[in-house]
Amino acid sequence: MTNTAKGRTDNAKLLAWVDEIAALCRPERIYWCDGSEEENDRLCQEMVAAGTLIALNQEKRPGCFLAHSDPGDVARVEDSTYICSKRAEDAGPTNNWIDPDEMKATLNNLFDGCMEGRTLYVIPFSMGPLGSHISYIGVQISDSPYVVVNMKIMTRMGQKVLDVLGDGDFVPCLHSVGMPLAAGQSDVAWPCNDEKYIVHFPEDRTIWSYGSGYGGNALLGKKCFALRIASAMARDEGWLAEHMLIVGVEPPDGEKTYLAGAFPSACGKTNLSMLIPPTTFEGWKVWTVGDDIAWIKPHDDGRLYAINPEAGYFGVAPGTSDHTNPNAMKTLRRNCLFTNVGLTDDGDVWWEGMDGDPPAHLIDWKGRDWTPDSAEPAAHPNSRFTAPASQCPSIDPAWDDPAGVPISGFLFGGRLSRTYPLVFQSFDWEHGVYLAATMGSEATAAAVGQVAIRRDPMAMLPFCGYNMADYWGHWLEVGRSVPNPPGIFRVNWFRKNGEGAFIWPGFGENMRVLRWIVERLRGGAEAEDCPFGMTPRHGDLSWDGLDFDSDAFNSVMAVDRGEALDEAKDQRNLFDRFGDRLPGEMERQRQALIERLGKASPEWRPTG
Ligand code: OXD
Ligand code: MN
Repeated sequence: MTNTAKGRTDNAKLLAWVDEIAALCRPERIYWCDGSEEENDRLCQEMVAAGTLIALNQEKRPGCFLAHSDPGDVARVEDSTYICSKRAEDAGPTNNWIDPDEMKATLNNLFDGCMEGRTLYVIPFSMGPLGSHISYIGVQISDSPYVVVNMKIMTRMGQKVLDVLGDGDFVPCLHSVGMPLAAGQSDVAWPCNDEKYIVHFPEDRTIWSYGSGYGGNALLGKKCFALRIASAMARDEGWLAEHMLIVGVEPPDGEKTYLAGAFPSACGKTNLSMLIPPTTFEGWKVWTVGDDIAWIKPHDDGRLYAINPEAGYFGVAPGTSDHTNPNAMKTLRRNCLFTNVGLTDDGDVWWEGMDGDPPAHLIDWKGRDWTPDSAEPAAHPNSRFTAPASQCPSIDPAWDDPAGVPISGFLFGGRLSRTYPLVFQSFDWEHGVYLAATMGSEATAAAVGQVAIRRDPMAMLPFCGYNMADYWGHWLEVGRSVPNPPGIFRVNWFRKNGEGAFIWPGFGENMRVLRWIVERLRGGAEAEDCPFGMTPRHGDLSWDGLDFDSDAFNSVMAVDRGEALDEAKDQRNLFDRFGDRLPGEMERQRQALIERLGKASPEWRPTG
């Protein structure tokens, strides 16, 4: 077996782990990734030859490639995702759990010989700027070259990481597509296995992923490490690993305010992280630090500092356009990988929601001819781009700063057609943690009158690596550990009118809300109390360039007492799942809401 380890590292734990995994998985060769451009080009060319990648038109999209996955391997597999802590109650009721010894036995069977005929790639990566006190190093072993080239975009990857690692500790992340090749057996374009396991051992801080080559299942630095394992590390070490975008909002005076925001999938998180203010907002700018994950640590100066642990965007392609996210469209011009989008006849990409008319003909994500009359979409709804963060026109100059950026406010928002106002601020930190814990989105296609909220606390439901009730307790603790914790806001861009149409225009117009939030945090904007929290009046927001009168504003802000009481009642179903582990503060806050509603008018409206 060839092994390119020589001279790359003296890290004894790493060398022993690679030997151990090679003995288990029995690959044909071991290759240590250096992260160079030359390596990347070579792997891409090999994947083009193997049919895994299609080189796009290099004039239109230099350095870009397209992959079409196996149709059964298109998204994260939550049902097959496990948190294997020693005790089931430490994983909590919202995670799948299996006894760690039993799970290790299952995995050892599955991984036995699983890389036969393949290359084992050793992928050293840093989550966060190299050498930052907020960053951590991981090493992924994978038998997928597609994973290597994605990890090069999504993380700081290669020899430079081994150099910083020295003999330090790292998180071992093992991945296999689960399709060994017998002697003489030819490969397929997208190897994977129907049986899938995405397994986390939070006490050992290790990850084992089997059977999928796709996204969050296979790029283990992202959801597996930076959220599930890191959330457990953060609990132990007094910091926060969150499913949050980070933006810097710059007013005309140039003094930036950094906000971190958690939104469940499909709420426009990437769009918000790259927002361009309306033209009437002269001198205002939104800077992007991150679009998906934030690691946030208390600092000696008493503030919370955040880094984006990633170096790229793994964003959903459909719906991304010059209207919804012009900065993303510019980011995607070069050096990107696309997965499961359509391929146009001139070698470019296309997806539903892109600007302009659909092409008359293209090849869809399943490799079939497609025309606008086709019954199925050209791009899979969860098709993705993998794009270097550094190419984003709104990238914050501090995005790679090892010190991180100081967070002044947190935003939490779901997709809710009623009940919740466009924006409101929590009364204090404890109330804010309760607002974040009870957030969620409406279950899709809920008929009017039967709206069920799928709770997604802090947008972490699929990503919290331990008991969610303990996680809320940890949030309460972190707030107590800093003298002046950030302000907490709930936003809801998705209120609908009686006809089912969105009332709020969203996208760039969300800047009007961000501006009020920033002015609040800087002590310069008014608010009044509503039963849910502190809200702006119509005159507190800037309306230049948008026709949105106080009646329209009332319709996105009003609180219907009956609906709000139903909501408070429904939250009890969430809390009941956690039994004794629920922090008392959560129920106390729910009772306080019920009490405020008891004194409120049947329909609360802003006063001005
Ligand atoms: C993601 C997600 O892929 O949150 O970022 O689902
Ligand atoms: Mn996400």
